[in-house]
Amino acid sequence: MTERIVLAYSGGLDTSVAIGWIAHATGAEVIAVAGDVGQGGEDMEVIRQRALDCGAVEAVVADMRDEYADEYCLPALQANALYMDRYPLVSALSRPVIVKHLVQAAKDFGASTVAHGCTGKGNDQVRFEVSIGALAPDLKVLAPVRDSGMSRDKAIIFAEERDLPIQTTRSNPYSIDQNVWGRAVETGFLEDIWNGPIEDLYDYTQDPAAAREPDEVLITFNQGKPVAIDGRPVTMLQAIEEMNRRAGAQGIGRIDMVEDRVVGIKSREIYEAPGAMALLAAHRELENVTLEREQARFKQTVGQRWTELVYDGLWFSPLKRSLDAFLQDTQQHVNGEIRMTMAHGTAVVTGRRSESSLYDFNLATYDAQDTFDQSMAKGFVQLWGLNTKMATARDLRVSGQ
Ligand code: ARG
Repeated sequence: MTERIVLAYSGGLDTSVAIGWIAHATGAEVIAVAGDVGQGGEDMEVIRQRALDCGAVEAVVADMRDEYADEYCLPALQANALYMDRYPLVSALSRPVIVKHLVQAAKDFGASTVAHGCTGKGNDQVRFEVSIGALAPDLKVLAPVRDSGMSRDKAIIFAEERDLPIQTTRSNPYSIDQNVWGRAVETGFLEDIWNGPIEDLYDYTQDPAAAREPDEVLITFNQGKPVAIDGRPVTMLQAIEEMNRRAGAQGIGRIDMVEDRVVGIKSREIYEAPGAMALLAAHRELENVTLEREQARFKQTVGQRWTELVYDGLWFSPLKRSLDAFLQDTQQHVNGEIRMTMAHGTAVVTGRRSESSLYDFNLATYDAQDTFDQSMAKGFVQLWGLNTKMATARDLRVSGQ
């Protein structure tokens, strides 16, 4: 039987050429698998047909949107996941869900190998291959762009020689990856990190400087999951989509940063993630109201570690699984409502309301209803500072002053 190879297919120039390239180089049959993770753009059926026209023996398109929102974006929201305190893991989150479907397709079609179109310089090769290995240790991987010299120039020549039904003139100088959680733009003039971003780069967000009516939104959470917006029930996917639209219109969620890649390179990235950034702001504030202090502090450390594991391609790993259990447990009481005003590029929380609140008005108030017994504080403060005081006394004694 002819060997079969499953290819992670995007519909773009590189992976379209990769179909024929792989078939030519290996003699194998290529099965193209494309996923809808909410990237918008072309119709998935058009993409499927293109894969077949480029020589795939089979082409599968999968609607992964709800699965992606519920099982990948939601845990990231609950972890308050921001890599290097800024990047909401947009691309890093989509790779594992895509890999799940690639591995399934490999099983369904009896393929021995999974191929991807990543270069050797980025994070995505790491995420694809480590995830494939974690889910199916016996599958082989193939990376023609990285390992067999399928450069962009060669890809264009290959496509033109064979008359492949794809555009070979690139009008877009950027490398873009997008899904419902956000959008990443790199390369081009952005590689000079002194160059400021231009308005042209953005697609999910309007210019935050442009004046428009502020937008007030009410988000209801149940166990750390957004379940209603302005009182209307929503799925996780709908919550992200609606917030992308509304926060995007207010210019929220633009990020310009230099980040540390897994492979050791620092790179310049422009992101926009309006829905994600607005939901993160709301979720974080509801946690401030409902999480016990020590749990909240420790959760920050766990969330950061979780974020690094996901960024580094370790979604399907033992430590990540263990941290998931902790993070899940913390969400039990993250219930209630957050009111936010979105305007001029920021989402500002203006109100919080929760049945599981730990905020106690009578303990916090400075007016007549105060129930806090201030006399308790005196002894507490003395004991709290005792060890520090002892240490200073010792230092003075030892230095003989
Ligand atoms: N640097 C980001 C990450 O590693 C974005 C990668 C985007 N990929 C791309 N092909 N443009 O998650």
